[in-house]
Amino acid sequence: MTDHISKVKGSVQAKRLPAIILFLLLCTTLHFSCRQDKVDTKSRVENPYQELYRPQFHFSPEEHWMNDPNGLVYFEGEYHLFYQYYPDSTVWGPMHWGHAVSEDLINWTHLPIALYPDSLGYIFSGSAVVDWNNTSGFGTEGQTPLVAIFTHHDTTGTAAGGDPVETQSIAYSLDKGRSWTKYADNPVIDNPGIKDFRDPNVIWYEPEEKWVLVLAAQDRLMIYGSPDLKEWTYLSEFGANEGNHAGVWECPDLFAIQLDGEGDEKWVLIQNINPGHPNGGSGTQYFIGNFDGTTFVNDNPPETELWLDYGKDNYAGVTWFDAPNDQRVFIGWMSNWQYAQAVPTQSWRSAMTLPRTLHLVSTEVGPRMISLPWSGVRRLREEAVAISRADLNGQFELLSSLAHRNGLYEIQLEFIKPDSGRVELEMFNSMGDLLYIGYDVDQNEYYVDRITAGESSFSDDFAGRHIAPCYYDQETVKMHMFVDHASLELFADDGKIAMTEIFFPEEPITDILINVDVAPLRVLRGRVFQLNSIWSGQ
Ligand code: FRU
Repeated sequence: MTDHISKVKGSVQAKRLPAIILFLLLCTTLHFSCRQDKVDTKSRVENPYQELYRPQFHFSPEEHWMNDPNGLVYFEGEYHLFYQYYPDSTVWGPMHWGHAVSEDLINWTHLPIALYPDSLGYIFSGSAVVDWNNTSGFGTEGQTPLVAIFTHHDTTGTAAGGDPVETQSIAYSLDKGRSWTKYADNPVIDNPGIKDFRDPNVIWYEPEEKWVLVLAAQDRLMIYGSPDLKEWTYLSEFGANEGNHAGVWECPDLFAIQLDGEGDEKWVLIQNINPGHPNGGSGTQYFIGNFDGTTFVNDNPPETELWLDYGKDNYAGVTWFDAPNDQRVFIGWMSNWQYAQAVPTQSWRSAMTLPRTLHLVSTEVGPRMISLPWSGVRRLREEAVAISRADLNGQFELLSSLAHRNGLYEIQLEFIKPDSGRVELEMFNSMGDLLYIGYDVDQNEYYVDRITAGESSFSDDFAGRHIAPCYYDQETVKMHMFVDHASLELFADDGKIAMTEIFFPEEPITDILINVDVAPLRVLRGRVFQLNSIWSGQ
């Protein structure tokens, strides 16, 4: 067995070395001449959120390296977002849990690091729960404990040629997640001899009043149960021959969800995998089935592969514990292990996707997950352009009536599916960076083409045209998109297709054309909103 973590992440780091040296050389000789005239170093230090490529309505850490979302829990009016964090560098390293909170999932407050590595290892991914009944006994009178369940990744033996050892541990907080105490008897689940054995995700299983923990064990899922979050019993495993197995399984999430929002309850298992994504690298697959408190059974034939997002930049996503109104709220890390450590941001690396709500809906091929953008994003809407019913020919300028263009847009477009050809949005700026998002009628697929969308020399795996095949037929095509300074999210056909892609243009997008290669295009309605930055008040 190879060491997935150090191998995958180490090789990226090694590949980056020449790039780093080249970059440093270029910086000294050119005195940052090209890029620095757009990024004022002084204002960057005063306001780190003005940097080139800095997401304006997505969460990103103030500085340094971030990967997976962790410990997603809603408690007393706050959504907690912990995340894999390395505070000493902009590449992956000894993992901590960074921390931020939000009341609306849009505006975030950064908080101090929640969990530091210790003698049992780095703090890898995991989840957090509200222990309402104080089953753990960590609560004191009047204080409900938050309990975090995470992987300890111990590298002490690796210098001597051994594998890292992964075990599961817990910590608790009695002050709304502001400070954490690690449990004295950690780890709570020992390693059974499996090298990749991590990313515990815990739910409360009401019918048996017990906690259920799922974790990724190399190429499958393992399920444990506990009365108190401290004593865990192995229950079953799932997936050795199900779904995609091109990479290591990571970051699972198991939850119940109603089909079509009413009636029948199904169980959905989110299972991240790296690599294995249809467009390359890291991706999020899911399974639909039943869970009886012990065993998960897949409803679909084992070879069925279902993917939550066809873009290359949505990984390690999981959902919030206890989100209000029974909503299944998801957030992912907006990157891909193929190039995450090499993307050209300077003081920080990576952002999260927009939060989404997940729903299970009936379709012509059976139940499928859909992803809808978090409704609170509406609060960022500013200036709007409406396109009423029209027949479009050739090219149409979408932003022409926007007085001032800040590169942050929400676009909704609904049109009658043409008989053939493509409908394409061409997004660009004055530097000639070009990003294409389109629907190909003949292939019945969506695509994002970022080949010419800006900087891509940092990785051969970055530039590309990525596709999302539709598994359904539709008469009306619906595209809903969010454009930030360095990302695009497409939610097509009421969320049946999601595509999340990052890109690195030299300046934000200022123009959007609709290209129609078969005339006319019958547009039913369209809207463009310019969005506010979440950092504008800071
Ligand atoms: C997924 C992952 C997890 C692991 C963490 C380490 O991106 O590899 O499996 O816990 O990142 O940072």
